[in-house]
Amino acid sequence: MSRPTDVTVNVAAIRPRLPDPMDAPVLRWGVLGTGWIAERFVAALRRNTRQVVTAVASRDGARGAAFAGRHGIARVHDDAGALAADPEVDIVYVATPHPAHVGGALAAIDAGTHVLVEKPLGLDAAEATRIAERAAAAGVYCAEALWTFFLPRFDVVRQVLESGVIGPLRTVLAEYGEYLPDGHRAMDPALAGGSLLDLGIYPVALASRLLGEPRRVLATGDANRFGVNAQTGALVQDDAGALAVLYTGLSGSTPTTATIAGTRGAIELPGPFYQPGDVIVRTWADGEILRYTEPAVAHEALYWEAAAVARDVAAGRTQSRERPLADSIAALRLMDAVRERLGVSYVRTNEGVA
Ligand SMILES: NC(=O)c1ccc[n+]([C@@H]2O[C@H](COP(=O)([O-])OP(=O)(O)OC[C@H]3O[C@@H](n4cnc5c(N)ncnc54)[C@H](OP(=O)(O)O)[C@@H]3O)[C@@H](O)[C@H]2O)c1
Repeated sequence: MSRPTDVTVNVAAIRPRLPDPMDAPVLRWGVLGTGWIAERFVAALRRNTRQVVTAVASRDGARGAAFAGRHGIARVHDDAGALAADPEVDIVYVATPHPAHVGGALAAIDAGTHVLVEKPLGLDAAEATRIAERAAAAGVYCAEALWTFFLPRFDVVRQVLESGVIGPLRTVLAEYGEYLPDGHRAMDPALAGGSLLDLGIYPVALASRLLGEPRRVLATGDANRFGVNAQTGALVQDDAGALAVLYTGLSGSTPTTATIAGTRGAIELPGPFYQPGDVIVRTWADGEILRYTEPAVAHEALYWEAAAVARDVAAGRTQSRERPLADSIAALRLMDAVRERLGVSYVRTNEGVA
């Protein structure tokens, strides 16, 4: 593998620069929700960091107690407010369905407690902005747990982009399709179900991060028999002409790869691109110049975001450098534009979202 002559960084030598998660200062975490991601987040923290989970909140006492028992958690609460007000909790991790993110986040912020909110930050850009403004006013830490941007893999991508080796950005291809069964939360319109917020947020967030504010957004898609968005294709173009081609769907699994191409070369992220995995860099002149490999440990890698957040809080930062709130809001602005093209809206009612 040779090096391109006009790039000063030795791209072949790029490795993640992330500090050891075991060295991150210890935060006392309170977990809101006891579902799929909460299980994995807590287990990953316990195995890979010194972070301590002191409390959990569940709408159901028995479920909360069972979760606490499985993970050695001492304190169980029955709602977001009690969790956030617990003096043994430094930071709340909001692991609830999407319509409950804003409520969970604001409960923490209003109690003066830091908060890490599962993706997406809110149902739309307006909710995300509300959360961000309230966190800023309260002076507490707030970030979206979009774990991709905290992974060692993405730190490699960041350095390759900064090196300039692929030249000015031209194209982003990103897709994420996964077969989700009928009983899944994503099939429920009242929980703002559909592929968009659960899976589509990853390609959308990547495009939004790389392209910035879009000039043009085209999208088409369809709904399934539950009335939630089943699949979507979107084209996004920025002022400089860079184009993103995005897909998401919940009826079947796709390779879930991403390619970031410039005028001189490309970064390939084999699937699933949003999880730990390889980074391959090719230039048109020199072929493959970097093949970075890391174990594909899937959600076991959720601890990277927790370690980064713990460092942020200890340093007195109120936002994440890996996932600033402006980026979370921008991604939802793009998602709002896609939804508008599809005619998909989330209207809050007493029963949930319609
Ligand atoms: N980073 C990732 O790779 C990843 C993967 C999957 C999901 N996520 C995100 O994590 C969040 C939760 O997803 P999940 O798959 O863990 O969902 P889930 O399995 O349905 O769990 C959500 C939990 O939230 C609580 N909850 C509070 N209000 C609720 C309501 N109105 N309806 C249902 N449950 C409610 C429930 O716990 P109690 O009944 O105990 O209150 C439930 O177990 C979502 O934002 C999702 O996008 C991220």
